[in-house]
Amino acid sequence: MINGFSAKGVKQMLDYIHGLPEQLEYCLEQDYRIPIASGISNVVVAGMGGSAIGGDVLRCCLNTRKSVPVLVSRDYRLPGFVGRDSLVLAVSYSGNTEETISAFEDARAKGAQIAVVTTGGQLGSLAEKAGIPLITIPAGLPPRSALGYLFSPLALIVEKIGLADSMRYELRETTAVLKEIREELYADEPDEANPALKLARELKDCIPVIWAAGSDLEVAAMRWKGQINENAKAPAYYNCFPELNHNEFTGLECPETLTKKLAVIILRGGEENPRIGRRVDITREILSDKITKFLTVEARGRSRMAQLFSLMYTGDFVSAYLAAIYGIDPVPVTLIEALKKKLKDS
Ligand code: PA5
Repeated sequence: MINGFSAKGVKQMLDYIHGLPEQLEYCLEQDYRIPIASGISNVVVAGMGGSAIGGDVLRCCLNTRKSVPVLVSRDYRLPGFVGRDSLVLAVSYSGNTEETISAFEDARAKGAQIAVVTTGGQLGSLAEKAGIPLITIPAGLPPRSALGYLFSPLALIVEKIGLADSMRYELRETTAVLKEIREELYADEPDEANPALKLARELKDCIPVIWAAGSDLEVAAMRWKGQINENAKAPAYYNCFPELNHNEFTGLECPETLTKKLAVIILRGGEENPRIGRRVDITREILSDKITKFLTVEARGRSRMAQLFSLMYTGDFVSAYLAAIYGIDPVPVTLIEALKKKLKDS
């Protein structure tokens, strides 16, 4: 057993992570029929943090397909282009996030077509009062542990209204891939051969820098970063190839006193562009005397959705094991709660 594995909240977080495939299965059984008129020319997902990232999964799933543009808006106001031909999916797990409530009001003012995904809260009440389609998802989890509930309705809605195909099929494949991964990575008392525990051990006392091998995988790197921040309460940063070769990478020329703390995790897989593959190899070569720790995680599955989830799911386990190694309770996000309370009172 690893030291700190008995730390408060570790088992709880691992159990939440364990439940992700069942969240997808639950959603597959629901009927997310919503009365949306035809003529949608863009989809905007409005949300913050753990509730917004489902929108990024959708964006990354659809970005190379023939589909309408999908944009994730994390702010009080929606972009200026939003109008009657926009579908705004306002997503807030608690239903009480002020930025999302404000974006919802903005969507109404702009005459957009709207659907709300929430467990209730103010956003749920506002949607109900205004007769706006409301998808109520199961409550009782930290938002970041509800990714299946927060993402799947978005995928199923866009499929239902004809903006994307095969979402249902991909959710089924994703469920199967996730179940396979949890067989290997979930353990009440992980042994030293557990690959997620091994990765977490590599990250101990380092600052993880997560690089996605292509912007198609961006959300996976973003999720790794967020889960390390929120579960292990540790700093982490992310970026994507090829963009990082045009800025971030050059910052690593700095003195070793700074770079020696970094551990670079490269997320790979899917239909990786061979030029991106070359960039990854050359970047590693160039940085070999600066970065001593390069780790790689490969995606699994056939569809983009399964590949993204496979990478994110591995990161979820790594973040929980890292919390255990640090002896940290992964569940509460005290700083986020404190900030929200102060904002509410001011
Ligand atoms: O993980 C978290 O707790 C946060 O990132 C929340 O998701 C974020 O603050 C938004 O809250 P909600 O998901 O309730 O809208």
